[in-house]
Amino acid sequence: MKFAVEYKNTPFLKTSRVKKDINRLNYRCEMLLTRNIHAIRNKRVLDLASHDGLFTYACLKLGAQYVVGVEPRSILVNDAKENLKSLGCIETQYEFVIDDAFEYLSTVEEEQFDTTLCFGFFYHTKNQTELLDLIKGAKPKYLILDTFVEDFQLPETELRSIRRRESKSIAGYMVFYHEDQDFEMASFGSSNLVGTPNKSLVEALLLDYGFNFKQINWNDETVIDKGDIGDCKKQTRVSYIAETADS
Ligand SMILES: C[S@@+](CC[C@H](N)C(=O)[O-])C[C@H]1O[C@@H](n2cnc3c(N)ncnc32)[C@H](O)[C@@H]1O
Repeated sequence: MKFAVEYKNTPFLKTSRVKKDINRLNYRCEMLLTRNIHAIRNKRVLDLASHDGLFTYACLKLGAQYVVGVEPRSILVNDAKENLKSLGCIETQYEFVIDDAFEYLSTVEEEQFDTTLCFGFFYHTKNQTELLDLIKGAKPKYLILDTFVEDFQLPETELRSIRRRESKSIAGYMVFYHEDQDFEMASFGSSNLVGTPNKSLVEALLLDYGFNFKQINWNDETVIDKGDIGDCKKQTRVSYIAETADS
């Protein structure tokens, strides 16, 4: 497959602390951004948890008007700045802010951004409801969400006890973990307790916060797993493009 953005020979292969298999990066960009080009080209994009700038760069390559990357780790922001500079990105078209996603979102004005990206962050917090509340409050037209999910099945006896008469039959749940603060991708801030929701909970939350959403199909026949996208294919990682219901 010919990718619109090709990560081969880019500095991200060195600076990224996420899985940096070329096939994975190329396909993540292809599935999350290129195939949702209507949400990127000529759009003002907010890239939450922008890491070393890998998706900020991709948005610019795909014709975004302006991109702001938000990342609390200054070392990663420095890498991002150097990476985009070395790749010849136009400096007036992007900015990297050293900040926590929640803090930054609370300063964003309504409709300041057309599109919000939330990649690889939804499971590095325990405050998913607050996060969606803040994203929704900033009134982007689009939200693209990519997250690991819990996939273990609760035994039927457990399910029966947590099901309530009025609730849907599929239970949403979240598993909490303590993250190692030395882990460079861990939740940044005073708490190292994070939660990974299951897929039903992610969808219930999107619904509850008024998003119309579509799951991105990683099992499309054009997506060839030549390396490191098994989690997306198995749906232990899921991705969505969502629109605010009133947009
Ligand atoms: C798994 S990486 C994901 C990077 C990239 N978005 C991706 O999907 O490949 C998680 C990122 O979230 C950042 N992060 C952790 N806590 C954060 C917070 N409170 N606000 C914004 N970013 C945060 C980490 O520093 C790290 O760069």
